[in-house]
Amino acid sequence: MSNLYLVGFMGAGKTATGRVVARRMGRAFVDLDDVVEERLGLSVREIFETLGEDRFRETESAELGKTTLGSDLVVATGGGVFSDPDNRRLIEKVEAVSVFLDPPWEAICSRLDENDRARPKWIDDRQARALFVKRRPDYLLADIHLELTGAESPVDVADMIRSALAEIQCAT
Ligand code: S3P
Repeated sequence: MSNLYLVGFMGAGKTATGRVVARRMGRAFVDLDDVVEERLGLSVREIFETLGEDRFRETESAELGKTTLGSDLVVATGGGVFSDPDNRRLIEKVEAVSVFLDPPWEAICSRLDENDRARPKWIDDRQARALFVKRRPDYLLADIHLELTGAESPVDVADMIRSALAEIQCAT
């Protein structure tokens, strides 16, 4: 079966949801940030600080490409992945299914504590909100758009994904 890619902004719940979806579907789970960290032997923050964002993005795209060679994977992408048209093309080419997890900005903000916000692309709330608004149209290009309130648990979101996938399969 084709891979499933979870896309969306930082704090959208991609990793937590991805783990549940993979477990339920009996698929392997890949967290793209973890894979990049492993590849470069540094944390995401360290990669940004010492090697720079370009190196992070190159590695991220290369590792994304490797996932498209596999099947049956559930992949939680980093928040920047789906904003890159080349990355989107990679996913489209293998006819994988992309799912946009879309909680409102307020829910993202209240979910991420100060520690969580210490991410390289989250400089302050104002800048992060502008990035969220800028990227949203890209995320909307995903095959499935899940409008969330932010109050759902990862299990709830996994249920929503299951229903959406069933609908797609019925329609094709
Ligand atoms: C990023 C999001 C992060 C991580 C890196 C860059 C982004 O992943 O890939 O810090 O550009 O939005 P999460 O979305 O899992 O936080």
